[in-house]
Amino acid sequence: MSRHVYLDHNASTPVHPEALAEMLPYFSEVYGNASSVHAFGREAREALDRGRERIAASLRVKPDEIVFTSGGTESDNFAIKGVALARGRGHVITTQIEHHAVLRAVEWLETQGFTATYLPVDSYGMLDPDEVARAIRPDTILISVMGANSEVGTVQPLAAIGAIARAHGVPFHVDAVQTFGKVPMDVVAMGIDLLSCSGHKIYGPKGIAALYVRKGTKMVAIQHGGEHERRRRAGTENVAGVVGFARAVEIRARDMAEEAVRVGALRDRLWQGIRERVPEVRLNGHPTQRLPGTANLVYRGVESESIVLGLDLKGIAVSAGSACTSGSVEPSYVLVAMGIPVEWAMGSVRHSLGRSTTAEDIDYVIESVVPLVARLRTSLPVGAA
Ligand SMILES: Cc1ncc(COP(=O)(O)O)c(C=O)c1O
Repeated sequence: MSRHVYLDHNASTPVHPEALAEMLPYFSEVYGNASSVHAFGREAREALDRGRERIAASLRVKPDEIVFTSGGTESDNFAIKGVALARGRGHVITTQIEHHAVLRAVEWLETQGFTATYLPVDSYGMLDPDEVARAIRPDTILISVMGANSEVGTVQPLAAIGAIARAHGVPFHVDAVQTFGKVPMDVVAMGIDLLSCSGHKIYGPKGIAALYVRKGTKMVAIQHGGEHERRRRAGTENVAGVVGFARAVEIRARDMAEEAVRVGALRDRLWQGIRERVPEVRLNGHPTQRLPGTANLVYRGVESESIVLGLDLKGIAVSAGSACTSGSVEPSYVLVAMGIPVEWAMGSVRHSLGRSTTAEDIDYVIESVVPLVARLRTSLPVGAA
């Protein structure tokens, strides 16, 4: 295997060389604790403050509205539990296709006496804002909707949902882990009160993320300890991570528009190339309201895992839209919520393209997947032909 093609950028991305270069001194030279009063600490604090300002500027919000966390999962948990626990009881609205970081947090709230509505989506994975309006009750305390779905890439109508939330005085949380840095977002104009974003999805490092909390949003801390992050999230700050994240955010702001066009064209090339040569394949997600780099394809009658493993043998990294638990393969809950029939949903494969993806990579994937699917459909073992 000589060739490597990485089409799993929605899972994680390589750290951008410029972000890495800017981070390095914070591991070995500027290693002080940002809470220490001496010069080492002050230098770390300066980098932390500056990183906060840089990320806030990109979101066009105030620096003290940014809380750093360890990842998108923590940001989602903090937003949902922090708002809910500040109220003590009430009703939460979310969707059936959220990431588990949101779904499991809301489910946990249900075990604590809160109630929840999990709204359905249409066959494109799109939420109807009217459904949100209809679900709001006098005791609704939070609406949490993802910016874009990580599996199929459908981008939600955030501005319309934000307007409804604002009209009813309900805090609006957006899990923007897949959206931030990929599609334009105006946090304030969209009426967003809380927004989760994560470093490693946008060529920043792992272990660093942020939660934007609009000033005046009532919430409590869920991680207790020192006085860090204005007592909203205890724990020694990840200064190197913040520096790398800030740089990655700035690079995304600079490159996003141009890259969306380039990556979008490659995604279309992939879909065209496969659909011309493979029978019974379909593209999931919204035809236009979608992340530029995400193509989720389903092959009827073929299991996703077989394609993922078959492509892995060719040096190609894609991901399955289904979860394999104790030997039984379940179709993806996202595709099930979209009403995709099970015999199709079992064969879903997510290709997520990124800044290093080339046309040659895409052509190699097409050349590899066409015979693989044909072979799997005739039940010959992978690698037999
Ligand atoms: C939509 C969404 N939310 C949350 C997360 C979790 O983010 P992290 O990996 O930074 O914990 C992911 C990761 O895949 C995601 O796609």
